Amino acid sequence: MPEPLVPALDRLRPLLLDADGLVRAVASGRRRNQHPDPSRAELRPVDLKQGRQIQVTTTDGRIPVVRNLTGEAAGQGIDALLAQPFGNWHVETRDSIVQLRVTKRGEAQVHVEARSAERVDGSHDRPPNHLIDPDDPLFRILGADAAKRRQVDAFLRQLAPIARRVKPEGRSLRVVDLGCGNAYLTMAAHRYLAAEVDPDVQTLGVDIRPEMAERNARVAAEAGLTGLGFRAASIEQAAADPEFTGVDIVLALHACDTATDDSLALAVRWRAQGVLAAPCCHHDIQRQLTEAETVPFGGLTRHPILRERFADVLTDTARADLLRLLGYRVEVVEFIDSRHTPRNALIRAVHTGTAPTARRVAEYTDLVSSWHVDPALAQRLRPEVDAVLGSV
Ligand SMILES: C[S@@+](CC[C@H](N)C(=O)[O-])C[C@H]1O[C@@H](n2cnc3c(N)ncnc32)[C@H](O)[C@@H]1O
Repeated sequence: MPEPLVPALDRLRPLLLDADGLVRAVASGRRRNQHPDPSRAELRPVDLKQGRQIQVTTTDGRIPVVRNLTGEAAGQGIDALLAQPFGNWHVETRDSIVQLRVTKRGEAQVHVEARSAERVDGSHDRPPNHLIDPDDPLFRILGADAAKRRQVDAFLRQLAPIARRVKPEGRSLRVVDLGCGNAYLTMAAHRYLAAEVDPDVQTLGVDIRPEMAERNARVAAEAGLTGLGFRAASIEQAAADPEFTGVDIVLALHACDTATDDSLALAVRWRAQGVLAAPCCHHDIQRQLTEAETVPFGGLTRHPILRERFADVLTDTARADLLRLLGYRVEVVEFIDSRHTPRNALIRAVHTGTAPTARRVAEYTDLVSSWHVDPALAQRLRPEVDAVLGSV
């Protein structure tokens, strides 16, 4: 039911000013015969040295202007935006999503949807939104800072449903974290899975740096974690190690460059039922694009920054396509807001064994032949990929 506009907008004010409750808000569009200036505004909380503030990004359609506001300035900034003739307000808080649309008659059409804790990205430090309490001594022992805790928590949110789905009957769940580094994720995942999915879960962290395995084993013992081990090995070495059998889930959080491809290839060879990989730097395809004599749409790769971004997209598209061809259901999602890490894409795959359609095969072959690239993952899985391409 349409309602008077001014009181409806007034109800948004406290939501926008609540830096602890606000997740994100966007004002956009315009009212009949009116033009807001700026043409769009986005608000979100940010944690700065001075404390949490509201970040307001406004744009006139060309250059974004970013301001971080707190106290009286935040109130004034928000009042100024509410006074602009935007056609829509979309306000996400921890508890609800409020959509306000201004009708042709200048009234407000408001829709309020309750939000479950599961849907919030875990970027605030309130216990109900964390799978592992940020005050858990594990994080103190690990020495993880708030940013890492958020990242780990967001990753666990993605892992939880897959772990429940692939937990085998009659034996314990086996998880391997490749390129585990300081093992923040390995230990938090182990703790979470043992508490929520399988008390007997077996977890192994692998990292090429020998000092990591020693340090991680010591920290795990200090944290009282059992069923968790560490290996100083390259991913390639892990592939040949007979101890790694019956792996159900492969994790790879920011494994550098082609170490992500090593991890995905290994997951396929192990027939891991679940795979969660958040890629890091992508140099392989970038290099191939640079070296190619001709590429389509030259402008896409002429400028280094655009080439880098495009190579990121191309690399992860090829990875997702290849996993699909090899019998996985794949989604590429943003696992955490980009203000916490710019490397926030996650390749999430579950093995289904479904054979690819001719269309899927054509999509992949068109992609790599158009761009003259041979993705690192395809190189590592040459026999498997050739078999699939030849079978359709
Ligand atoms: C950016 S760190 C990420 C660490 C951890 N996963 C995290 O997110 O905190 C990448 C890690 O991958 C490890 N690494 C890189 N290439 C590797 C390889 N081929 N085999 C095993 N570990 C590798 C590095 O030693 C490093 O610790």
